[in-house]
Formats: sequence, C-alpha cells, structure tokens
Amino acid sequence: MNPEEIYIRQFKDCDLFGLIELLNDLENQELVGGSLEPMNEAEVLNWLNLKRSDEGTNIFAIICQDEFAGYVLITSIDRINGHAVFGINISRLFQGKGVGAIAMKHVHDFCKDSLSLRKLVLYVREDNQRAISLYKRLGYKSVGSLLNHIKANESYIANNVMEVFL
Ligand SMILES: CC(C)(COP(=O)(O)OP(=O)(O)OC[C@H]1O[C@@H](n2cnc3c(N)ncnc32)[C@H](O)[C@@H]1OP(=O)(O)O)[C@@H](O)C(=O)NCCC(=O)NCCS
Repeated sequence: MNPEEIYIRQFKDCDLFGLIELLNDLENQELVGGSLEPMNEAEVLNWLNLKRSDEGTNIFAIICQDEFAGYVLITSIDRINGHAVFGINISRLFQGKGVGAIAMKHVHDFCKDSLSLRKLVLYVREDNQRAISLYKRLGYKSVGSLLNHIKANESYIANNVMEVFL
C-alpha cells in the first residue's frame, strides 16, 4: 500500500458508518478496553462528541485509500510535563497492511510539532502480540506491567505499560 494514501485527519460525518462498525467489533473492543455492549448510531456519535469536546483529548480518523480505517486517540494530555496517553484502533479489514505504523508516525509528528509533547505512554494487554510488536518497532519500551489487571476468559492478564520519547 502506498504510504501517501494513509493519513490522519479530523473526523467527518462520512466516517460515522465505519466508526459504528468498529465500536461494535467485540474482538477489537476487547483489545482496546472498550465497551462490549452494542452501540447504536446515537451512542457512537455521543462517544465521539465526548472525545472531541474534551480539552485533554485529540481524536483523529485514520484514512486509507479514501476509506475510514480506524482512529487514533491522544488522551490525558499533560502540557506542563509534556506527555499524553496514546491509543489506536484499526478496523479488521485494514489490519496487517502497515497502516498502524504510518498512522502512528503521523500522530508522533502531531504530538511533537503541534502539542509540544516530549513523550507518549500506552497500555497494551500482554496477549496483544501484534500491537506489542508494532510498538517496539516504533521505539516504545516496556516500563512495567499492571499484573492481573484485565479479565480474560476465566482469569486475569497483565496490562503492559510502554513509553516512547518523541
Ligand atoms: C494493533 C494494531 C494497531 C497494529 O496495526 P497494524 O497496521 O494492523 O499492524 P501490522 O499488522 O502491520 O502488524 C504489526 C506487527 O505485528 C505482527 N503481527 C501481525 N499479525 C500478528 C499476529 N496475529 N500475532 C503476532 N504478531 C502479528 C506483524 O508481522 C508486524 O510485525 P513487525 O512490527 O515486527 O513487522 C491494529 O492491528 C489494531 O488496531 N488492532 C485492533 C485494536 C488493537 O489491538 N489496538 C491496540 C490496543 S493497545
């Protein structure tokens, strides 16, 4: 896939359908720690508007060949100390095609150049090998683990904490 065809931008009305599908994909929702309840159009719009109206949050749609491919999220923006928390969620159709890495590089540039952040922190389930592999490739280092933190089947698994300096 041509990297120039992958970019991030503010959400538009035309992204809503893709976002509804994404937030109703239980496999993805489990990986990002989202709601596992079905969400209708109004609930998804409300979810999006809450993020858009929060001063400490930035959300961008990931666009791939003119189609909605997912979103990236910057939360808990701390301008005094220069850090924030990163999140990403890519629709299954667009996974495994290198979209994540390109979207993340755009977010890193935005955080450094527009928000003057120094570093990003993220949380990732210990069993999410695809995500961990991508994060390591982009320079994230593990800085600890919240043990027995997430319910998975009948037991609990760890949530790893990773960070990158921009
Ligand atoms: C995790 C995610 C951001 C990765 O983005 P992506 O564009 O799909 O990334 P890729 O498929 O190119 O894969 C990244 C790496 O995982 C590897 N990989 C792919 N499928 C894998 C699998 N099933 N198991 C283990 N590793 C896998 C790839 O080979 C690649 O390795 P590399 O970085 O060493 O080259 C994306 O798949 C996603 O949003 N998934 C659903 C939600 C999620 O997990 N969000 C992150 C929560 S912390």
